[in-house]
Amino acid sequence: MSVSFWTRESHRWVSIVFTLAVVANFVFRAVASGEPPAWLTYSPLPPLFLQLLTGLYLFALPYTAKRRSRPPT
Ligand code: HEM
Repeated sequence: MSVSFWTRESHRWVSIVFTLAVVANFVFRAVASGEPPAWLTYSPLPPLFLQLLTGLYLFALPYTAKRRSRPPT
């Protein structure tokens, strides 16, 4: 299994973690009074940072793959 496979797989599954963290924030605000605790407010940020890193890698893949597969001149 290649690095690009695992990067895509991580991006896909971390997106679920990120989504759940965002949903938890909305649920807290819907059912409880007052602000959510800071750890809950900021909980989407670590998965979002991982999404940014893996997402930029996935973005660059088609361009680096083309370069790698170009026949030698
Ligand atoms: C934060 C910056 C992010 C960047 C730069 C980014 C970038 C990308 C790129 C380049 C792809 C590949 C598209 C392709 O197939 O060519 C991708 C796929 C995807 N992204 Fe993101 N993304 C980001 C954040 C997110 C977030 C926040 C979510 C969801 C909560 C998400 C969910 C997905 C999913 C589900 C895929 C498809 C993965 C697959 O092919 O299996 N991404 N993203």
